Amino acid sequence: MTKSSPKLTLDRLLQSQGFGTRKWCRSLIADGEVKVNGEVVTDYRASVDPAGLSFELFGEVWPYREHVYIALNKPANFECSRKPSHHPGVLTLLSEQCAWRDVQPVGRLDHDTTGLLLMSDDGAFIHAQTSPRRHVPKIYLATTQEPVTQALISELLAGVQLHDEPAPLRALVCRKVGDYQCEIVLEQGKYHQVKRMLAAAGNHCSFLQRTAIGGLTLDELGLAEGEWCYLDQRHLELLAVGLTTR
Ligand code: URA
Repeated sequence: MTKSSPKLTLDRLLQSQGFGTRKWCRSLIADGEVKVNGEVVTDYRASVDPAGLSFELFGEVWPYREHVYIALNKPANFECSRKPSHHPGVLTLLSEQCAWRDVQPVGRLDHDTTGLLLMSDDGAFIHAQTSPRRHVPKIYLATTQEPVTQALISELLAGVQLHDEPAPLRALVCRKVGDYQCEIVLEQGKYHQVKRMLAAAGNHCSFLQRTAIGGLTLDELGLAEGEWCYLDQRHLELLAVGLTTR
């Protein structure tokens, strides 16, 4: 994201990047901990152009990011809600900076579901990604309690009627990958959709992992469970692979 941005005072710039309160950022600057273009700057009122800027804090180089786009390989037993009640929240897996930036999960995975979860502090991005009009394939690997049969696959592909849904929901793709495992590709993101679809088709999901969103796969990101990374422009473009809006 390198579009030109208005100039900022150095304290505001640091604050915008999640380094704490303005007061705290001013004290870091006064203490000589911040370098811009290789020079220590001790005046918090110094005006900086954030576009393409890298600055140093405690000797570490940071690129300016107007917004952050994050992929987390979510482990089980973490909640996506803003106010987690039974398990720690997924935000606790990110850096303190992300919390200061008010990073939020993009949609939800159940507390016991693992895999690819997007997170961001860009409200417009979160809104666009979670719009019900946005249909992008989401790929899940489901482990089942009963064997995966051809009848199960055919039923999920044909569509199953879920309680409270006006019409049957079907998998875009469903294929057996093991005696008790199938890959299910969905376009929608209804509440507990994979688990409810499997239950409606007479099976039970005992373990669920999201392996990809659009063309962005966990494999490509190479994240171990609990690890996260910033997404670059190429990753963001991959998120739209297979996208339709209606
Ligand atoms: N479907 C589910 O049932 N659970 C998830 O976490 C995601 C999709």
